[in-house]
Amino acid sequence: MSRVALVTGGSRGIGAAISMALKDAGYKVAATYAGNDEAAAHFTKETGIKTYKWSVADYEACADGIAQVEADLGPVDILVNNAGITRDAPFHKMSREQWQEVMDTNLSGVFNMTHPLWPGMRERKFGRVINISSINGQKGQFGQVNYSAAKAGDIGFTKALAQEGARAGITVNAICPGYIATEMVMAVPEKVRDSIISTIPVGRLGEPEDIARCVVFLASDDAGFITGSTITANGGQYLT
Ligand SMILES: NC(=O)c1ccc[n+]([C@@H]2O[C@H](COP(=O)([O-])OP(=O)(O)OC[C@H]3O[C@@H](n4cnc5c(N)ncnc54)[C@H](OP(=O)(O)O)[C@@H]3O)[C@@H](O)[C@H]2O)c1
Repeated sequence: MSRVALVTGGSRGIGAAISMALKDAGYKVAATYAGNDEAAAHFTKETGIKTYKWSVADYEACADGIAQVEADLGPVDILVNNAGITRDAPFHKMSREQWQEVMDTNLSGVFNMTHPLWPGMRERKFGRVINISSINGQKGQFGQVNYSAAKAGDIGFTKALAQEGARAGITVNAICPGYIATEMVMAVPEKVRDSIISTIPVGRLGEPEDIARCVVFLASDDAGFITGSTITANGGQYLT
């Protein structure tokens, strides 16, 4: 029987590529999103992957949403914590709201999604938790104290929980994408994009599929010996 994968923020950008790659690899996939109904409906129409709407920042909504996914598809074996937002500002101009929103989504969201699924994974002695962090959680980024702190927190979460899951057959890993050619990055002026690309040794932006392939590998049985690790997928832009 095919395993069930749940991808947060799985209807757009990197998450959409992850959802599709997991489906192509034979998983039953559920993708969540926060509010863009139109993008989610389009994604479901194009791919046949069912989408579910709730905010990862809301613990109760996560528990209820997960229960619905499990009623529809069966127990979740693979969780990809991909949903994420930016609320950029230099620190002296950053509001408490900008700080809190990013922490609630990018860090607490990972707790809120993983915590309700953890007992079932422990019971079934199998699980894969894959957290999408960021190059900016590794190196820090001007104007992103909130985002960098949350994404660095995701790496700490990964390393600690990996130790708790190891004996229960659950691996917990993080992936740190560099600049990926999503809508957000492609919307910046070409000149700015070119200056970003000039800092990437491989000479190109990443594609969402570059990250999706890492997820498919980490989700597989072949990756059972890999836990607590951080895969750096950034074209050589920042070496850890
Ligand atoms: N793009 C990059 O270059 C890059 C680089 C490093 C790391 N990352 C990380 O990779 C992940 C995906 O980035 P992306 O660029 O693909 O983002 P994106 O295109 O903006 O898509 C974000 C997805 O997350 C969902 N989402 C946002 N807030 C949510 C919430 N509170 N609850 C549930 N879902 C929520 C969105 O739903 P709606 O469609 O409803 O808005 C959307 O499906 C993020 O964690 C990001 O930090 C991206």
